[in-house]
Amino acid sequence: MANRMIYFTLGLFLLICCYSDRVMAGDSDPLQDFCVADEESKVLVNGFVCKDPMQVSADDFFFRGLGQAGNTDNDVGSNVTMANVKQIPGLNTLGISLVRIDYAQNVGHENGVAISALSSQLPGVQTIANSLFAADPPLPDSVLAKAFRITQEVVDYIQKKFA
Ligand SMILES: *[C@@H]1O[C@H](CO)[C@@H](O)[C@H](O)[C@H]1NC(C)=O
Repeated sequence: MANRMIYFTLGLFLLICCYSDRVMAGDSDPLQDFCVADEESKVLVNGFVCKDPMQVSADDFFFRGLGQAGNTDNDVGSNVTMANVKQIPGLNTLGISLVRIDYAQNVGHENGVAISALSSQLPGVQTIANSLFAADPPLPDSVLAKAFRITQEVVDYIQKKFA
């Protein structure tokens, strides 16, 4: 009788497993409360290896940088201050980070600032103008000219600014 129940359960499982047309996937939940990034480790994983919990301190979860304006006196007139796993090792495996973007340019009378939340612990920064006009290898002038409805001479002029 017990054997029949096992075969029945196994058969039911195979039926559900093999005839189901639905697939579900997602990030697995972290296995521990925290996994502070150990940037000294030579082991390469998706993210960083966990620091020894006995070596973890409150500073691993704290970053002052978002409260301070970045210097916008540069070519692009803005400054990105990142608060990711590099600044806050305690973000490791959590898949989140923040950035502060300061602007010089603002239509109002105060300095413009944006705080953005990102769904990655180390997202990086991509400047669109650099990606388009200083790409390596370069994008064809004809493509840029068509995309921006400008002449190839204007494309060359803009590209020189990024050289
Ligand atoms: C952004 O601001 C910080 C802090 O003032 C400064 O150290 C850094 O050089 C600035 N970055 C750029 C690209 O201007």
